[in-house]
Amino acid sequence: MTLNLENEKRSENTMSKSYRLFTFTGGNEGVWEIIRTVTVIGDHWPPAERLAVRADEGRVAEGSANSVWELRGITSNERYTNRPEKDTLRQRQEGLGRPSSTLAALIPIRKKMTWWTMTQDERRAVFEEQSKHIGIGLTYLPAIARRLHHCRDLSEREPFDFLTWFEFAPESETAFDRMLEELRRSPEWDYVDWEIDIRLRRV
Ligand code: HEM
Repeated sequence: MTLNLENEKRSENTMSKSYRLFTFTGGNEGVWEIIRTVTVIGDHWPPAERLAVRADEGRVAEGSANSVWELRGITSNERYTNRPEKDTLRQRQEGLGRPSSTLAALIPIRKKMTWWTMTQDERRAVFEEQSKHIGIGLTYLPAIARRLHHCRDLSEREPFDFLTWFEFAPESETAFDRMLEELRRSPEWDYVDWEIDIRLRRV
């Protein structure tokens, strides 16, 4: 009986944890060394030495003592992906944390107000029919693993709308850069007014 209860507790602890809220702290702590911080468009973003990524349970965490900056984002339901795209993504993509993925990129993005005043179907038309965001992205799977975090609905103080996170092996870095070039040339990126490209190496 005692054993059963313990087993139940353990499975609760290990299986039911599905984190949605993530905090990215740039400072001097964390397993990711920041190799470079590049402002693609918009205001300068301060460089830091290390990045710590923390999964928080449902509440916004307090800032760390030695942080240079702190960004928060939450995973959410998909807005644009249709059924065939979702199925293909599920088949092709691999999860984060692969031992071979020693490189990563954190790319915070803000979109212009005109994007947010468009309707859902207008945004989808730019995102996929015109820009082929998913079409382009799919060709880089499973080499690149990803997680999209939304910031807009978290609080009014969040500087970016999205925190995009990617992990890959060193041999896929050139492909990753090529994908970025393709996406940044697309009509969707006409709506991006702040983008910082932070590159990382796991230490
Ligand atoms: C690895 C290849 C990639 C794939 C497979 C991919 C796939 C997707 C998908 C399916 C969505 C839509 C989610 C939804 O339905 O709400 C999405 C959204 C998004 N992706 Fe990508 N993506 C990739 C690469 C990238 C890159 C390199 C960036 C940034 C530089 C990026 C930035 C974004 C942003 C900002 C959104 C949110 C768009 C919005 O809601 O306005 N993605 N991506």
